[in-house]
Amino acid sequence: MKKVKVLVVGGTGYLGQHLLQAYAHAIPNANGTPFAFDLAFTHHSSPPHPLLDAIPSSFPFQVDLKTGVGFETISNTFGQPDIVVNCAAISVPRACETDPATAHAINVPSSLVQWLQSFGKRNTLLIHLSTDQVYEGEKSFYKEEDIAVPVNVYGKTKVAAERFISENWPNFAILRSSIIYGPQAISPVPKSLPIQWIDSALAKGEKVQFFHDEFRCPIYVKDLVTIILALTSQWISEGKQMQLLLNAGGADRVSRVQMAEAVAQFRGYDTSLIKPVSASSADRGVKSPADISMDISRLVQTLKVQPVAYENGVRLTLSTEAKQ
Ligand SMILES: NC(=O)c1ccc[n+]([C@@H]2O[C@H](COP(=O)([O-])OP(=O)(O)OC[C@H]3O[C@@H](n4cnc5c(N)ncnc54)[C@H](OP(=O)(O)O)[C@@H]3O)[C@@H](O)[C@H]2O)c1
Repeated sequence: MKKVKVLVVGGTGYLGQHLLQAYAHAIPNANGTPFAFDLAFTHHSSPPHPLLDAIPSSFPFQVDLKTGVGFETISNTFGQPDIVVNCAAISVPRACETDPATAHAINVPSSLVQWLQSFGKRNTLLIHLSTDQVYEGEKSFYKEEDIAVPVNVYGKTKVAAERFISENWPNFAILRSSIIYGPQAISPVPKSLPIQWIDSALAKGEKVQFFHDEFRCPIYVKDLVTIILALTSQWISEGKQMQLLLNAGGADRVSRVQMAEAVAQFRGYDTSLIKPVSASSADRGVKSPADISMDISRLVQTLKVQPVAYENGVRLTLSTEAKQ
């Protein structure tokens, strides 16, 4: 059976952990040819024990994307991966606004690409996570060919990353992800998760403000994992280099109010606790684009995947989470 080497950069983050679990348990079957994965992942802080226990067969490597320290050890012990999925980033827009230089150094994966260039063969597939925040937010259902006009540092670092990858690596898929939601990771991540945050805020029985004029296409984490596995299968089975840019959103365009309403409906909370306000009424310390809903037809056609409706994703998320 063909062994496929996969490296998840940022394997300790929210998406990274979900992805590692999926790779560890999946044996994709492409064109009747089974293949299994040799798994490795990078972390920056200490890797959490629940994650290590859940995927004992994987190799953890400490890497700092800012400097590239740690990549050489991977070359020496794991070798060149067939696939790298880059989930590492400073992913909180406010943190990027506070320290743009660090955000740029980590979010533009130049050390990772330079490391890939150090191998003789330029055939690793690099799957890179970008964001819907590359778009300006002035219209609905952005397409990939719409011009990227980021309004904050986070979005600017992601546009710079997309450009760097497409100019310096020949085999890549860039996923412009919307808000990622779903169950908590195997080792709980420090940042608050969107559905769980709404759930705990409404559970207090007090009124909570939500924006009625900010729109996103949130994507269920397991759909994003399916998309990454589909890209993996395509590369391994066809061996055809790709230069793909895909909007990776869920099936629905929803406002923050609608996001909260779906949670309230599932939990049976009083929907009058949801107080609609304009995003312009709040100072979040970072500019946030108003409507960055995305047209996902290229994703659906290219990979034959169909993300779940937002309401169903909320049900899937909360049915495995304890009530707050
Ligand atoms: N979450 C969302 O709603 C969302 C929406 C759109 C796009 N995205 C993008 O999707 C990707 C995954 O997001 P996520 O929410 O899963 O991210 P996350 O939970 O914030 O995880 C970030 C990862 O980056 C690693 N990291 C941080 N600084 C590093 C450094 N200096 N060197 C190496 N690694 C470093 C962290 O390692 P340690 O844990 O070891 O510190 C962690 O594994 C990111 O590119 C993000 O921008 C996310």
